[in-house]
Amino acid sequence: MTLEEKAALVVGTGLQFGDEIDKNSPYRIPNQPLPGTLADRTTVYVVGAIGRTLEIPRLGISTIEMVDGPAGASLGSRTTAFPIGTALASTWNEPLIHQVGQRMGHETLELGLDLLLAPAINIHRNPLTGRNFEYFSEDPLLSGKIGAALIKGIQSQGVGTSLKHFVANNQETNRIEVDAEISQRALREIYLRGFEIAVKEANPLTLMASYNSVNGNLATENEDLLVKIARQDWGYEGIIVSDWEAGVDPVKQMQSGLNLILPGPYQDTVLIEAVKDGRLEEKTLDKNIEWILKGVMRTPKFRKYRYANAQEFQKNAEVAKEAAVEGMVLLKNREQALPLMQENNKVALFGNGSYETIVGGSGSGYVMTAGPTVHLFEGLKNEGFEVSTTLSALYESYIEQNTPEQNKIEIARGRKKRAPEMKLDNDMVMEVAQKNDLAIFTISRVSGESADRQVDDNFNLSAIEVSNLKAVVQSFHAKNKKVIVVLNVGGVIETSSWKALPDAILVAWQPGQVAGNAIAEVLAGQTTPSGKLTATFPESYEDEPSARNFPGTPLDKPKRVIYQEGIYIGYRYFDSFQVQPSYPFGFGLSYTDFTFRDLELSTATFDDSLLVSTTVTNTGNFNGKEVVQLYISAPAETMHKPRKELKGFVKTKKLKPGESQKVSFKLEAKDLASFDVGASAWSVEKGEYLIQIGKSSADIILTETFSVAAPLQVETVSRALTPQIEIEELTPKNE
Ligand code: BGC
Repeated sequence: MTLEEKAALVVGTGLQFGDEIDKNSPYRIPNQPLPGTLADRTTVYVVGAIGRTLEIPRLGISTIEMVDGPAGASLGSRTTAFPIGTALASTWNEPLIHQVGQRMGHETLELGLDLLLAPAINIHRNPLTGRNFEYFSEDPLLSGKIGAALIKGIQSQGVGTSLKHFVANNQETNRIEVDAEISQRALREIYLRGFEIAVKEANPLTLMASYNSVNGNLATENEDLLVKIARQDWGYEGIIVSDWEAGVDPVKQMQSGLNLILPGPYQDTVLIEAVKDGRLEEKTLDKNIEWILKGVMRTPKFRKYRYANAQEFQKNAEVAKEAAVEGMVLLKNREQALPLMQENNKVALFGNGSYETIVGGSGSGYVMTAGPTVHLFEGLKNEGFEVSTTLSALYESYIEQNTPEQNKIEIARGRKKRAPEMKLDNDMVMEVAQKNDLAIFTISRVSGESADRQVDDNFNLSAIEVSNLKAVVQSFHAKNKKVIVVLNVGGVIETSSWKALPDAILVAWQPGQVAGNAIAEVLAGQTTPSGKLTATFPESYEDEPSARNFPGTPLDKPKRVIYQEGIYIGYRYFDSFQVQPSYPFGFGLSYTDFTFRDLELSTATFDDSLLVSTTVTNTGNFNGKEVVQLYISAPAETMHKPRKELKGFVKTKKLKPGESQKVSFKLEAKDLASFDVGASAWSVEKGEYLIQIGKSSADIILTETFSVAAPLQVETVSRALTPQIEIEELTPKNE
């Protein structure tokens, strides 16, 4: 391989979309390709792929063609829009997510692509983060397990994945310049832990280093992160790639263990010069190329896979719908307002989102659908409901007249400008209340790449939404008719100020292209909701511990954000500091009821593992599934600890009324350990541990203790990622 070829192989071939979107690309357009590689560099197999590596036919090296992103392959309007990441995680169902992965992988494969740029598993540190919809949870175990299930499913089809964004890309505000200062303990226990689980369990083909800096160094130029942690501590064996245009110094990137700079290609000239003038050793390139080639050999193009260029839309839609349905979370259900009964056939459907249902967030994670998008009003009709035509006519013409002009690139990236929420006229609402059996009121939100959300009119409801909701509730309740709120959102919103108003609240998330059918299936009771929140819904934004420093300073263009809350994010904070949330982590109601009994531990004294089992019985009147959550409270003598931490979860099969299932968990020493910065090791304290089996982090049903006789040092890891500054971290003692 010539030096030119080597330099061209460690940077992508640039963006050649092969259609007009290219002109509007937010990324740089390729420079003139190097002599000798011209033909190979411009080879495009699949129009619309977002990244490629160099092919060198002479040496039998094929290209890796990549496509976004977490909600399925995003290729113009040729693919299936699956539910967003948060919705998938809210199923708490690893086998189902594995199936979703299989469908995503199959579509990627049969379109001729080699790699799906997913999953994205950054921690939900703050509810305003624009890309939370792509991410799974505030909890690292749940993020890691769901991530691993998705990766295994996708890769079972013979295509690769990209586990991203490594690490601490927990905000969009100035993501390329911000330095996240995080204690080593919070990094290891919270921000890195999900990646560690997914890397070790699922071996993703690539790991994508993020835009931001962590403790003073850009993630893509960070040897501690890429070499010490990913390679040495975790034994990662795939290709470490950059996020698109991340980082500033290609030479440093190569030296820091970044194998592939994406999307390229203009950095190659810099690398060639650096080798020639001695700043970069050629063997550093060779080492990176070795990783790339090992990865190339795991791709369909290398195997000369003959793809069908056709997808199985029907099968994809079925699995997408199952996941969408299972990810929905029932927050409230006063007097069994749901499921809707036969006599509730005439539905007054309010909210723009009922007619223009949001299927996913915007940016690279957006998937334009090939199949039709089913909006909520259509889904309800498909399910046999009669939707008020007065309202549908009103909303449809309002939306039509008030939707701003937009260009193609905005639409392609899901940045469709939407009509503001229609203000309701009280008399009209009263008339509609007279003529219909109940009201469904949709509140919708969309956010995405490049911007975080705002507190006003986004995290909080807008004044129009509040007055509309009040008007609807007043008119319908006056007639003894119920009001159901559907949250068509990508993440957490404020609920405490208005949740008393409606009779039921269903979080439908952004459910992908099957949206309306999936929501209607749950409302009608075809399927009992079994989703659980993967992030805490606080009473107010200010209650969030990271609200004190998000998104960093200076506020308008933050250069540094200090994670002062340390390990106390999400329920670890609300629970340990006894701050009442609006809805706790792990929460979600059902149409049926479950009891848990017979909690059994294999031993009362921990040796090197422990088996825990319990029996779940459906004691209600509907078929349904339940998520059994296992939390542990660990002794806090030598280190402060959260009041409880999720250490296992199992989703039952669908249980009929009266039916039981025994579920079990295996706990190993690492599951009991916390990260001891002084020793740079995962350590287990001696003492008494409390196992708590619950339906949510706040609803613990069974408890049992076991003890650890002597302290254990489970695993010593590299001393890496020392913060640049002393972080005064929040602990239960200093609050
Ligand atoms: C995003 C990645 C994405 C890449 C390619 C970047 O802006 O952060 O998640 O995979 O673009 O579209």
